[in-house]
Amino acid sequence: TDRRYVIDEMISAKSIAARIEELSRQIHGEFDGTDKLVVVGLLRGSFVFIADLVRELDLPIEVDFLEASSYGDGMESSREVRILKDLRGAIEGRDVLLVEDIVDTGHTLHHVTNLLKSREPARLKTIALLDKPTRREVDMKADWTGFEIPDEFVVGYGIDYAQRDRNLPFIGKVRFT
Ligand code: PRP
Ligand code: MN
Ligand code: MG
Repeated sequence: TDRRYVIDEMISAKSIAARIEELSRQIHGEFDGTDKLVVVGLLRGSFVFIADLVRELDLPIEVDFLEASSYGDGMESSREVRILKDLRGAIEGRDVLLVEDIVDTGHTLHHVTNLLKSREPARLKTIALLDKPTRREVDMKADWTGFEIPDEFVVGYGIDYAQRDRNLPFIGKVRFT
């Protein structure tokens, strides 16, 4: 993690915002008439995405968070997803939207969706800003995806490399120098 690198912009803040507007229209289509949607952010990576996404939603919502970790400070998935912090509220019988920043091997989304399903929500849908389909190890796909990207190590807009660069307003790719 002491390796030197530069970050090349891959997806601008403007295109992310435009895509979130489109996605929010689709979410409205799905959840129109919902009693109260629980929007669940998967920490830490999704904190920026969920903040922008919920502000585009004109629906009755609650926000809750769950913290999972599989990468730690490395660049490789450990394939062991640890739940570090659970939801505060119960989701049984509720409409739930799980918000993830990126689906890579798919282990995190797989593990967390199974966990949430076991609590018997009325409806569970998933949204991921980014998807790296070529890296998949378990057959998983979010119901909505912002952008499909090639197999590059990306940072920014909530996503870290060894806990750094989460605060970049765009998605960039890491290039070692
Ligand atoms: C990253 C990312 C996703 C997950 C995707 O989280 O935010 O949650 O990995 O990878 P996968 O599809 O291979 O499981 P990380 O474990 O780094 O925790 P963080 O969100 O706190 O950075
Ligand atoms: Mn994460
Ligand atoms: Mg991480």
